[in-house]
Parts: sequence; C-alpha cells; structure tokens
Amino acid sequence: MENYNVKDLNLAEGGRRRMDWAQREMPVLTMLQERYRKERPFEGVRMSCCMHVTTETANLMRTMQAGGGADIVLTASNPLSTQDDVAAALVAQYEIPVFAIKGEDDETYYKHIHAALDHKPNITMDDGADLVSTIHKDRRDLIPGIVGGTEETTTGVIRLRAMAKDGMLAFPVMAVNDAMTKHFFDNRYGTGQSTLDGIVRATNVLMAGKTFVVAGYGWCGRGVAMRAKGLARTLS
Ligand SMILES: NC(=O)c1ccc[n+]([C@@H]2O[C@H](COP(=O)([O-])OP(=O)(O)OC[C@H]3O[C@@H](n4cnc5c(N)ncnc54)[C@H](O)[C@@H]3O)[C@@H](O)[C@H]2O)c1
Repeated sequence: MENYNVKDLNLAEGGRRRMDWAQREMPVLTMLQERYRKERPFEGVRMSCCMHVTTETANLMRTMQAGGGADIVLTASNPLSTQDDVAAALVAQYEIPVFAIKGEDDETYYKHIHAALDHKPNITMDDGADLVSTIHKDRRDLIPGIVGGTEETTTGVIRLRAMAKDGMLAFPVMAVNDAMTKHFFDNRYGTGQSTLDGIVRATNVLMAGKTFVVAGYGWCGRGVAMRAKGLARTLS
C-alpha cells in the first residue's frame, strides 16, 4: 500500500467496531453499497478526500472503495475531529491510505494534504475547500487530470464561489451544502445536536435555567437554538 500516517495501527479493531455501529444508522449508504457492488461506478477512478476522519466518513470511504471500485486516499479536514482508531481501521482493515492524527499541527496538516494530492486525483472530495485551494495555489500540475470535485460545507462553498466569480476556479465543484438534505439535516440537526453535546461534555453544566446566546442565525445557529430550547426549564 501507499504511504500513510496515522497514530497507531493497533487501534484498528476498536475503530472498525465503531464504524459498524455507525453504519447501522446509515441506511442510505447501506443501500448505495448494495447498488455499487453491482454497478462499480468508480472503477479505477482516483479520489483524494479531505474530510473529518470519523466513523461516518470512514463508512463513506469503504462504500466508495470496496463497493464502488474507487482508488481513495483520505486526509483530515480538521485536526481536532480526527478519530485515531478509525484512521487506523481504514489503513489496516480496508487498505485505504489515511493521513490524519488527532491534534496534528498546521505544518503536518498541510503535509498530509500534499500527501493526499500525490495520489493525483481525478475527483476531489472536500470539506472546507483546503484541498481545492491547495491544488490551485501549489499543485496546478494536477488540474488537467481532475474531472471535478465535491464541497461539503458552507464555508467551503463560499470560498469556491468567490474563486468562480473571479474566474479562478479551474474545474467544476458540486456544492453539496446546497442540497436540502445536507443543510436541513446536517447543519440544523447534526451541528445543533453535536454543539450542545460538546458543551455538555466539556463543562458538565446543567442547561436548564441558563441563558443561551447564539451569534449568527443561519442553518447551524437555528439548529443550536432549537436544541438548546429543548433543554430549557419548564414551570410545570
Ligand atoms: N462542523 C460541522 O460539522 C459543520 C456542519 C455544517 C456547517 N458548518 C459550518 O458552520 C458555519 C455556519 O454554517 P451555516 O450553514 O449555518 O451557514 P449560514 O450561512 O446558514 O449561516 C451563517 C449565519 O451567520 C451570520 N453571520 C455572518 N457573520 C456574522 C457576524 N459577524 N456576526 C453575527 N452573525 C454573522 C449570517 O448572517 C448567517 O445568518 C459555517 O462555517 C459552516 O462551514 C460546520
């Protein structure tokens, strides 16, 4: 297998078990796995992906590679969200090269992005546009081989639209965040829930009775506000 950089391959078995657990809540991906096994739509296509290295992403990776036939490399889109056991499982049990270590510094983060680009992708999958902007800044030699890409999040779509407006975007990128199912569910309910979860885990604070301030009232902000309201104090 190609190069990879993860924290500890011995964590792999625990990571695989957590991937299986997450898969139980991912019925659409399970459906796609069955379909891809027959159709093999990505046979031989090289993909470089820059996404949160979590159980859910890992299941997407195994769907695209094991089922779809893609030749995939994964790097982290945020050093803080990397789950080291999942990174290990992808390398050791699914032969998917991963470059991600939780808490990696900025220099390592970009080294990992370059390592994923050494894969010479035909398709990019991005969550925040770091991969695509690195291609445009430092790796323009890759552009002729790229058919297109996907961009997951609001921030990335804003960055790419600005590049497109200036005539600087060299290949088409699908704005996944524009799909109703993405921003309705992921941004509003997903980010809403996980933000509250993060605050509770970090502080152990009782929410009922607190004054909760949300700055920015878009999809995520509304979701956080809704979830916080659900934990409010009631009088009866
Ligand atoms: N970590 C995750 O899993 C995850 C998931 C989805 C979105 N995101 C990120 O969350 C952020 C919000 O996404 P969204 O989909 O809610 O975007 P959005 O465009 O729907 O909402 C952003 C809101 O912030 C407001 N805003 C902008 N600047 C402000 C300022 N200075 N002060 C107060 N309000 C301001 C805007 O008016 C808008 O209402 C983005 O950075 C996005 O990339 C993260």
